[in-house]
Amino acid sequence: MRGKFITFEGIDGSGKSTQLRMLAGALRQRSIDVITTCEPGGTPLGRRLREAFLETEETVAPRAELLLFAADRAQHVEFLIKPALEQGRIVISDRYADATFAYQGAGRGFPEATVNEIIYLATGGLKPDLTLFFDITVENALRRMQARSETGERVNRMDVETADFYAAVRTAYLGVAEREPDRFKVIDANASVEEIHAGVIGMVLPFIGTAEMEPLNHTKTQ
Ligand code: ADP
Ligand code: TYD
Repeated sequence: MRGKFITFEGIDGSGKSTQLRMLAGALRQRSIDVITTCEPGGTPLGRRLREAFLETEETVAPRAELLLFAADRAQHVEFLIKPALEQGRIVISDRYADATFAYQGAGRGFPEATVNEIIYLATGGLKPDLTLFFDITVENALRRMQARSETGERVNRMDVETADFYAAVRTAYLGVAEREPDRFKVIDANASVEEIHAGVIGMVLPFIGTAEMEPLNHTKTQ
């Protein structure tokens, strides 16, 4: 039996990592087993790659960047995502192939056909069953990124791109939403953490077929 593969996408600062943590907590509270992971850096090799090409001051050639995200993903699919899905588990990843389509395609300007070919090579065609796109205005995202860097939370090489870059990335993601509305769902990420969480739960529980499950501390009154 194949499990379920859910991915979270959004421009930097959209709040998806926060929401992924909250969703995983809410599912585990309902005794639903989930594996949470991320790209880049979901495997030991991926973490070394991430450190080498993302958490660095060194200039990285766009072509090297494209291939390194792909290398991270190939390892991730082979040794973490595929085995977990084959065991029937639910895997939730903070970013996956749509990020390469949006960032390296629209952001860096690689042709769509090239990007798609590299994504196919890395994934063997494995696509998410459900993707939640946390849609935030570039202005709000930049504000959150600014606050995040002021509080000393992690910053990486891509956190310093221009508003135009993030606008192009966001537009590319919205294009995926138009082409694949069944898989790729848009969530308004400008709202409060709690409001967004409620929206996420409302989409994910029916999708994994547990909408009828009650929270553990809920007592039913007829
Ligand atoms: P991402 O993983 O998409 O880059 P994070 O979850 O790391 O985003 O959130 C970016 C920053 O914004 C963090 O400092 C986080 O605490 C804050 N944040 C997350 N969600 C919200 C929200 N709904 N409203 C305001 N701030 C938020
Ligand atoms: P990360 O610190 O994980 O940021 P976030 O929490 O916003 O996801 O950094 C990942 C960065 O790498 C982010 O700026 C998006 C970028 N990225 C790509 O450009 N292409 C990709 O294929 C992936 C997976 C990420």
